[in-house]
Amino acid sequence: MARIETHAIAVEPEWVQPTEIVEAAVRKAGQAVRGRPLLIEGGADRMFVRIDPRLTTVAVAQLLENAAHYSPPGTPINVRSSVLSGELTITVQDRGPGIPPQDVPRLFESFYRGANARQHVAGTGMGLAIARGLLAAQGGRVEGRNAPEGGAVFTIAAPAESRTEIALDEETE
Ligand SMILES: Nc1ncnc2c1ncn2[C@@H]1O[C@H](COP(=O)(O)OP(=O)(O)O)[C@@H](O)[C@H]1O
Ligand SMILES: [Mg+2]
Repeated sequence: MARIETHAIAVEPEWVQPTEIVEAAVRKAGQAVRGRPLLIEGGADRMFVRIDPRLTTVAVAQLLENAAHYSPPGTPINVRSSVLSGELTITVQDRGPGIPPQDVPRLFESFYRGANARQHVAGTGMGLAIARGLLAAQGGRVEGRNAPEGGAVFTIAAPAESRTEIALDEETE
């Protein structure tokens, strides 16, 4: 199996608000999510986490692109962020047909594309492998499953210090 070497990725944590990461990911996903209602929840106003915003944004953008590619045009996509027990989680949920069950164990392999993708949607099969590598570099993970009510749910989780405000001296670090 192909393996991503994560040790070469430079991790540069900064104090950021989870909503900033979600907003940057939406901008990065760009055209792919245009016209999709995005239901964004969480990210209590003054909460900051210490995480690499660049790497995390790229990973969330991949999940958003997939949610848009693999669910019907016009259907909403939910994005929820939360900070709990030293961990930031960001969840992306769509209203599509979900992940074919036989593909669930293999989604994160490099170049792997599911049965729902091979014929219909252009792609490389690298999006989730990259997302996994970007999270692994920060000691985090990405998981995908089908929601009981239908649709796919992908969650990124990364260890992150958190606080409600940043001290001025750290802002300029
Ligand atoms: N939101 C989703 N709903 C259903 N299947 C998905 C979703 N996201 C990813 N997948 C499945 O996971 C596979 C791997 O995703 P990815 O690594 O981004 O590659 P690609 O999108 O280029 O095929 C996809 O081919 C698809 O089968
Ligand atoms: Mg993809």
